[in-house]
Amino acid sequence: MSVSLPSSQLLQNAIDTLSIDNLLESGQTIQLRRMEVAVDLIKPEPLSDEYRAHRPYAVREGGIPPRRPSALGPPGNLVLSCSIDKEPIGDGRSSLVYEVQNEILSDPNVSVPPLVLKIARNNMYFNIDFALEKWFYDEMESIQGVAIPRCYGLFKVGLSEDLASDVRPWKLPQATIRLEEQSVLDSNYSNDHDDIRMIKGEEDYLYVMVLERLGGMLPVGEPISEEDRNDVKGLYEDLGPFCVCLHWQVRHENILHAPVCPPGLAGKPSEVKKKTHNWRLVDFSSAFKQALSERQMLKLHMSWVERLLNGLPSGRLLEPF
Ligand SMILES: Nc1ncnc2c1ncn2[C@@H]1O[C@H](COP(=O)(O)OP(=O)(O)O)[C@@H](O)[C@H]1O
Ligand SMILES: [Mg+2]
Repeated sequence: MSVSLPSSQLLQNAIDTLSIDNLLESGQTIQLRRMEVAVDLIKPEPLSDEYRAHRPYAVREGGIPPRRPSALGPPGNLVLSCSIDKEPIGDGRSSLVYEVQNEILSDPNVSVPPLVLKIARNNMYFNIDFALEKWFYDEMESIQGVAIPRCYGLFKVGLSEDLASDVRPWKLPQATIRLEEQSVLDSNYSNDHDDIRMIKGEEDYLYVMVLERLGGMLPVGEPISEEDRNDVKGLYEDLGPFCVCLHWQVRHENILHAPVCPPGLAGKPSEVKKKTHNWRLVDFSSAFKQALSERQMLKLHMSWVERLLNGLPSGRLLEPF
């Protein structure tokens, strides 16, 4: 008997339902639905008249370019069933990140690359972060698999109080929100788009982002090769045409190695650098758009990236705040 192998690659908008077996301590399977975010969710940060007057060379001619049309076609309706490991492989300000395991797609002809689930900590502000981050993935669709990971969607589900208290990742110490953190969060979110107001009104909603699985971080305490230095800097050149500024997120933990192919998907060549990068950038929830020229944006990014790269060999994890 011949076994037929999957013949096509999973498209980034093909999954409609995410079914996770062991997210709840009880073992009850939980299903999340794909959530779209509005194109106008994020407005560009204005440049002051004073800035424009003093640095006319730093302002992008013609303003911010419109979003590039998506190359993905109509969204699909596949179900991805999976489970997650016991321990997260990463965590950050807003999330815990787990390797996807035992993945089964409702269409056996489509192959699934190695994936992670980025699970929001239990606070609606981080759900807002996830919506904002998804907007940047949509905005930068053409550099997914080039300079940023492929994003297979944002998914959410509303939970009863009982189920919410049973979400395994939310019980971890890293997921707990401290009181002082809560008050900073309360003062930080001024976006009043309808979608953001909706999220603010949700209680006990679980948000999960599905991303291509990447590798480890840059080495600390040893020299970084010239090739890796140039490659990492090149990632920020790819952001230039989108007027996207990462500012606070130029951090050691937000630069990860590209997937190893196979089992990961091959990287696509950068239009700007005309080469395939060995590294990828993650974490866009505090990114912003600003009508800066590509040269000025690169100058800003390089001022942080150079400091980071220069500090790593001697073990200094320089952070922008
Ligand atoms: N696609 C990925 N593949 C592998 N590990 C990842 C991936 N995305 C994030 N991580 C790991 O999880 C950590 C947190 O992810 P990040 O996107 O920075 O979330 P946060 O918004 O919480 O800071 C990262 O620093 C990294 O260690
Ligand atoms: Mg991070």
